[in-house]
Amino acid sequence: MLVISNARIATMTGAQGGPAPLGLIENGAVACDGERIAYVGPAAEAPPAATGAGVFIDAGGMLLTPGFVDPHTHLVFAGDRAHEHALRLAGRTYLQIAEAGGGIRSTVAATRAAPDQTLLADARRRLQRLERSGVTTVEVKTGYGLSVEDELRLLRLACALGDGVVPTLLGLHAAPPGVDRARWVSQVVSELTPEAARQGARGCDAFLEEGAFTAAECRAALEAGARAGLTGHLHADQLSEGGGAQLAAELGCKSADHLERTTSEGIAALARAGTTAVLLPLAAWFLRQTAALAAPFLAAGVPVALGSNINPGSQRIESVSMLLAAGCLLSGLTPAQALWACTAGGARALGLDDRGTLAEGLRADLVLFSTSDPDHLPYHAGVEHAALVIRSGKVISDARKF
Ligand code: NIG
Repeated sequence: MLVISNARIATMTGAQGGPAPLGLIENGAVACDGERIAYVGPAAEAPPAATGAGVFIDAGGMLLTPGFVDPHTHLVFAGDRAHEHALRLAGRTYLQIAEAGGGIRSTVAATRAAPDQTLLADARRRLQRLERSGVTTVEVKTGYGLSVEDELRLLRLACALGDGVVPTLLGLHAAPPGVDRARWVSQVVSELTPEAARQGARGCDAFLEEGAFTAAECRAALEAGARAGLTGHLHADQLSEGGGAQLAAELGCKSADHLERTTSEGIAALARAGTTAVLLPLAAWFLRQTAALAAPFLAAGVPVALGSNINPGSQRIESVSMLLAAGCLLSGLTPAQALWACTAGGARALGLDDRGTLAEGLRADLVLFSTSDPDHLPYHAGVEHAALVIRSGKVISDARKF
């Protein structure tokens, strides 16, 4: 048994749009029996088994939350697109750079040329940075292979990253160079998606955008994903409004991601379908766009998650602390709502009901911070405050100074 006592526990069992999203327990205790939570509640009421033998940690009154769930990353890639960032700062747009031969296709070329060991080692370093800051579950998309063979290679590498990774097939990320796009869509639908599901993909995604894929093409890919048992996600309404939120809702996707240009009709559709809105404010900042505001989603009853969207093109900041800050400063979440978005929200977006909140029987994914104050996290940004990170009952990062 691993027991953490004398903690200020944010269970994240409150409603995100309500007065108390954190579901706080003062002077609480959490006991982990192997990979699962055996007790969470007031320390004074913990059963004897939860105070007995095993590893006992005195949290010293610090904040304890569920492990963070990052529901949107493109973590496996090679190459560097800093020059594109400089071009954007000089006035070029993301789509102009892509049309001129940069963008996703340039990362595809670099990724195809990189050996497995390099891709894996780089992705592991990115993952470790997230883990040290409190992330215990990370969704990882393919999408820089763009052939059946290369997409399956990226999927294998994502799976090899280990227990906390949820791999998503993103075959429709860009039209592959030198291949007829209709043929690629049909290969994704009939060949790649069922094989990816057999080889460990959990989700399926597509990029609905001018210059990327049409609604009809994304529909075909997501329907193939659903037939193969994959959880649906959609890059929707990022650079232009394309009815992406409505399509994600109609297809029963677990999440619609980006949503910078979504209309009130799109928000209403997400609400009706119970689809989670994954906001990516760091990408909006990086592309010098206006970030999606959380308020209209929350007002309509749509749960809001925050994703880092780490990728070489539109978001290269690897910091959960900065994500929380951007969720508050750019998307208008309160600190408590942003924390909910990074835990319960992320788990909902991935369709994972065994994590994201703290309750008996759930996965023992926990973060103990070096502050007792949830408001401190998005305020003192750029500094990672996670002191102890536990995944499935095992310590994966320990930076305690108490
Ligand atoms: O989520 N929008 C599409 N995919 C990524 C960008 C990927 C890239 O530019 O390499 C995103 O922003």
